[in-house]
Amino acid sequence: MTDTNILTDKYGRKHSYLRISLTERCNLRCTYCMPEHGVAVSPWGKLMSPDEVFEIAKRFVGMGVTKIRLTGGEPLVRKDFGQILEKLSTLDVELSLTSNAVIIDRYIDQLKAAGIKTVNISLDSLHPTKFKTITRRDNFDKVKQNIDKLIQEGFKVKINCVLIKGFNDNEIIDFIRYTQNNPVTVRFIEFMPFDGNRWNRDKLVSHEEILNMAFAEWSATGVERLVDEAHDTSRNYSVHGFQGSFAIISTVTNPFCDSCNRIRLTANGRIKNCLFSNSEVDLLTTFREGGDITPLVAQAIQAKAPIRGGMSTDESFSDPNNYNQNRSMIAIGG
Ligand code: GTP
Ligand code: 5AD
Ligand code: SF4
Repeated sequence: MTDTNILTDKYGRKHSYLRISLTERCNLRCTYCMPEHGVAVSPWGKLMSPDEVFEIAKRFVGMGVTKIRLTGGEPLVRKDFGQILEKLSTLDVELSLTSNAVIIDRYIDQLKAAGIKTVNISLDSLHPTKFKTITRRDNFDKVKQNIDKLIQEGFKVKINCVLIKGFNDNEIIDFIRYTQNNPVTVRFIEFMPFDGNRWNRDKLVSHEEILNMAFAEWSATGVERLVDEAHDTSRNYSVHGFQGSFAIISTVTNPFCDSCNRIRLTANGRIKNCLFSNSEVDLLTTFREGGDITPLVAQAIQAKAPIRGGMSTDESFSDPNNYNQNRSMIAIGG
């Protein structure tokens, strides 16, 4: 196998997008992302150091990765985030970041210097009290100010809004209205099941329901279907005349696995071939022993299931055994 086809799986999917989680810790406690009692975090020495992140990422770039997204937990809580960013910015890849924006104002200059143009920010409510309920922290104003700052500083901002029926689905129209004068993309995300997040199908707001609400407000002809970018997880729309756009990420009701180009590296150096796969391949131990990680990467890619780590039907989600063995989202990084 040559270096360029190691990342192509049995179904012909080329994995050119690496998502690196830098930490399992977060400064928020979102209910859909982590269990109430928290998660056991890896001891510091088991996490990839800045040099290890860089060297392992470099191997992936050599195998054909062209885009790297830094995730967490919250990637910015790592004290050495700046160091990691600086190293990664020397690689020939598109670099991006997913953050909750609580402390992102401290990193604006560093993000710019690293060539980051787009940042994805989690925000599930436009109401401070609801924000506090879902995140178990009181940071709404800070997050909102930081989103404004990112826009002013010229970043392309995508807002990730996980919808939970009965909690924030009544804000869908307000969120879309927010795109009237703000050049952002608000992405509504179907609530997905992970270990300990109390998922249940009745809490899911489907792609169809979201779209119907938008049509009821602006009419079907007032809402334009946009062209999605290649490998986009979202289906994109905009209301005529609005500066921004909105989108729907429907992993449960409308998966997009046939065009999947993503692989994940956890903060403790394990490769996860799918968001939903329970099996992981440890790269860090071999890397630390001076061994070759390439065969391990090939093994992980070849083991990738065609759809959602083997949960091929919508009904697969009704059996918690299918996802309880997976990590909590906080330890995957989305
Ligand atoms: P872009 O690079 O802008 O497309 O970002 P993204 O949407 O991939 O990343 P982000 O970290 O903002 O994640 C937004 C939502 O998409 C989260 O709920 C993720 O869990 C989900 N998501 C990201 N990657 C995947 C994936 O490979 N499969 C599925 N099913 N969902 C994903
Ligand atoms: N379902 C859907 N999206 C989730 N995220 C975290 N947990 C879930 C879940 N259970 C999203 C967050 C974050 C992104 C990386 O993943 O909103 O923005
Ligand atoms: Fe890719 Fe798995 Fe996400 Fe499907 S569920 S798009 S296969 S990572």
